[in-house]
Order: sequence, then C-alpha cells, then structure tokens
Amino acid sequence: MDLTYRPRRLRRSPALRAMVRENSLSPADFIYPLFVHEGAGVEPIGAMPGASRWSLDQLTAEVKRAWSLGIRCVVLFPKVSEGLKTEDGAECFNENGLIPRAIRQLKQEIPEMAIMTDVALDPYSCDGHDGIVNEQGVVLNDETIEQLCKQAVMQARAGADLIGPSDMMDGRVGAIREALDDEGFEHVGVISYTAKYSSAYYGPFREALDSAPRTTGSKPIPKNKDTYQMDPANAREAITEAQLDEQEGADIMMVKPGLAYLDIIHRLRLESELPIAAYNVSGEYSMVKAAAEKGWIDERSVVLETLLSFKRAGADLILTYHACDAAEWLKQG
Ligand code: PBG
Repeated sequence: MDLTYRPRRLRRSPALRAMVRENSLSPADFIYPLFVHEGAGVEPIGAMPGASRWSLDQLTAEVKRAWSLGIRCVVLFPKVSEGLKTEDGAECFNENGLIPRAIRQLKQEIPEMAIMTDVALDPYSCDGHDGIVNEQGVVLNDETIEQLCKQAVMQARAGADLIGPSDMMDGRVGAIREALDDEGFEHVGVISYTAKYSSAYYGPFREALDSAPRTTGSKPIPKNKDTYQMDPANAREAITEAQLDEQEGADIMMVKPGLAYLDIIHRLRLESELPIAAYNVSGEYSMVKAAAEKGWIDERSVVLETLLSFKRAGADLILTYHACDAAEWLKQG
C-alpha cells in the first residue's frame, strides 16, 4: 500500500510507545478511601472483596503501608454505631467521635500523610440521608448547613488537610469555607463533590457503612437521594455546579461516580483550571472484583486501564479502593 501516514510506526516497540505516551499513572494521583469502625480488628466488607473496616489500632499500619507504596492521601469514612445515629446526625461534630480520633491518631503516627474527610450527615443519621429530614420527608438544605460547618471545623481542628463536602446540596462550599476561615483554618482546603450523581453505583459503600436511606419511625423517608444528588441524565448542570463551587472557593473539584461519567470529567477539565478528582466508586470496584474472582477478566490490566482512563479524561486525582493494589502493580512495572 502507498501510505504516507502509518500510525503503527510509533507503536512498534515499547521504547517508541513510551516516548509518545500521553498519560501516565502515579501512586501520588491516588486518594485511598478507608472505612473505620469502633469494633476490634479488620472486618471484611461483603460487597467489596478486598476492602475492610479498620479498627483504630490497625489503621495506622494500613496507612503506613499506603505511604510506603507512594500514596499521599487517604479519605476516612466511619461506620457509626446504630445507637449514635439520630435525626439531626449530631454525632458528626462530636470531637471524640470515631473520625476525629482517627485523624488525631494518624497525624500523630504518620503526620506526612494528607488526610481528607467527608462532610455529610448520612453515616450519622438514623434516616440514612445526607441532611436533616423534616416531618414531610423533605431533606432540608439550609437547616443542615450548621451541622456540616460544625463537622468541618471539628475535622480541621483534629488535623484534616482537605474537607470534602459530599451532600450535594446548595451553598455548602461557601459556608464551609467561611466557617473554616472564621476559626483560623484558612490553610485547610475544600475538595468539593462538585458533580455527584444519584447513582446505583454507591450500593456497596452504603452496605459498608450501613448508611442507606431507611424508614424507622413515622416520618416518610425518601428511598433515594434524587432531590439532592444530580440526575444521571444531566451534563450541562455539572458546569453550573462547577461554576458555583469555584465562586464559593473550592480548591479541588470532584466528579462521582467516575467511569460512567468520564464525559463530565472531560467537560469540567475544559471549563476549569482547578485540579479535578474522579471518584472510582464502590460499585465500580466491586464489579471488577466480582468479574476477576470468576476469572472473566484480568484484574490488574482492567484496573490499570480504568485508572488511566480517568487521567486521559482530564482528572488529576483518583479516589479508588484499588489504590494500594494499583500502586504495587505500578512499582512492579
Ligand atoms: C456520603 C457518600 C457516599 C459515597 C461517598 N460519600 C454515598 C452516598 O452518597 O450515598 C459513595 C462512595 C462510593 O460508593 O464508593 N455522602
């Protein structure tokens, strides 16, 4: 054939491919989510093979392992005892709660690791919603913010580096930024769940924390989070959310879930100069694990290809339960 251009010329050898590779993965791109519980020991999570709930006495060792693999940030999620869950989720700002104790411990034992937190009521709410639910079953926007600001300030006081408002309601980033500044935490960053969709991919996470919406009393509790998390049909709306978060002072913006929303990551990358994070959520993780257990896919290749796709779409950071495995694989080359 008489071809001038033959793209295969640059694919002929590993050396040539490495020279023209456009994106790469590094363990420093990863944020490692960890579940913590009051119980003793390490408790496997049924719906998330390979992921566990960590007791505080085991947590430091796992975080040190992540550090030694090159991971530089962890995000902590609490499995709160049922007895501590209330309608207003007040446990979320208890300075002796599970999360602040975990943060203080890690800052003592491995101060160099960056710590991100989640700011929302769901792990602390007996209704399983991210905000306070009124008698009519409405999840309240403005009334919840006071709790969230107290939660954020308490986490900053414990030593958190990045505060992650995840309830996807309005005005969170600005209010939390102001609350942090008022308390002298102007150096603490906000990583906003900017475009968080109302997604079925969060199922295994809600099992891990036992935090799914549920009806316990006489109040009508919405079964899903559609009135605050975004409609999976919408893309333009993500731009509006991003603009608001920027105006309100977000330092990093996140898209969640990741894989089914690569187009959203790409759009935000074009719209904003802020760092962008992708959340490779629990359901995405568990699907890969399940198929790998059956021998239907090669886990290592699928995970690395997936994580790379977030970088290619425009993400700088990736929250992923595969973080340690992927870091190991990258080290092996
Ligand atoms: C809670 C929160 C959720 C996740 C992170 N923070 C669940 C939800 O919104 O119901 C999901 C993460 C995952 O599925 O891995 N605000």
